[in-house]
Amino acid sequence: MSIERVGVVGCGLMGSGIAEVCARAKTEVVVAELDDRALEGGEQRVRQSMERAVKAGKLPESELEATFERIRFTTDLGKLSDRQLVIEAIVENEGAKVELFREFDLIVHDENAILASNTSSIPIMKLAVVTKRPQQVCGLHFFNPVPVLRLVELIESLVTSKETSSRLASFATDRLGKHVVRSQDRAGFIVNALLIPYILSAVRMVESGFATPEDIDAGMLHGCNHPMGPLALCDLIGLDTAKAVAESMYEEFKEPLYAPPPLLCRMVEAKLLGRKTGRGFYDYQKKG
Ligand SMILES: NC(=O)c1ccc[n+]([C@@H]2O[C@H](COP(=O)([O-])OP(=O)(O)OC[C@H]3O[C@@H](n4cnc5c(N)ncnc54)[C@H](O)[C@@H]3O)[C@@H](O)[C@H]2O)c1
Repeated sequence: MSIERVGVVGCGLMGSGIAEVCARAKTEVVVAELDDRALEGGEQRVRQSMERAVKAGKLPESELEATFERIRFTTDLGKLSDRQLVIEAIVENEGAKVELFREFDLIVHDENAILASNTSSIPIMKLAVVTKRPQQVCGLHFFNPVPVLRLVELIESLVTSKETSSRLASFATDRLGKHVVRSQDRAGFIVNALLIPYILSAVRMVESGFATPEDIDAGMLHGCNHPMGPLALCDLIGLDTAKAVAESMYEEFKEPLYAPPPLLCRMVEAKLLGRKTGRGFYDYQKKG
């Protein structure tokens, strides 16, 4: 049974990218947000990203409007009722995600529907157990920016059915053109388990006065040929998200290397969240 009707909940950095790639893969998408303001911001992000894809020759200009129109934007979760696949991409907060997965049972009427989470770090089992269909809950973790990066991590919980994971894997591979890797259901999965301690080490270097953000990033750019240094990457991810991911990993493993350093906590409290608020380790307003 092919997946033609997709729902995306949350239209921030990730939800907008997920909605875009689904629409570009010619599925019909409903995106749900909390309120009109967030919805407008999400809609704008999708449009700007599609326009960039046209400029980069990745999306024919003649298809832009039809692709955009394949997405319906709403603040009414009830509009997800006929979805075959719902991808949750709201804030990295366990309580909020648990609440939403509980609601999915009441909202999503297709009894074969797959309920997926784009969480970076929260174990999928915690979301599966609050629904009446835990065998249909699976992790599907995209990377930022979603239209550009090919990787998707697929995470089965201990009770995800093989049918769910293989349907989802073939959707991600054959329909979206993604490269799927499978991870066990452990906080952080594969990529963040490696990446977050690295980013936190860079934050600790800044905190202790060891080196400046510019020199740390230049070190990894020019010394290791990374496309971006750890602090620029942290700004791209969003400092709030990086901190939330670190906290889930710390909660799971109790390893000090996953504990968010005080500097990261203070910057989040100050809303210095990186690119999305205009300032993090770097000032994006100055750069225009
Ligand atoms: N930022 C990254 O690089 C990245 C990469 C991979 C995965 N993720 C994961 O994706 C998820 C979203 O992250 P993001 O970076 O897009 O965050 P974000 O802050 O940009 O967006 C989150 C959006 O969710 C909305 N939202 C919150 N509660 C909601 C609800 N109950 N119903 C509908 N909408 C709701 C908010 O209004 C906001 O627009 C998180 O779980 C995060 O860990 C993030």
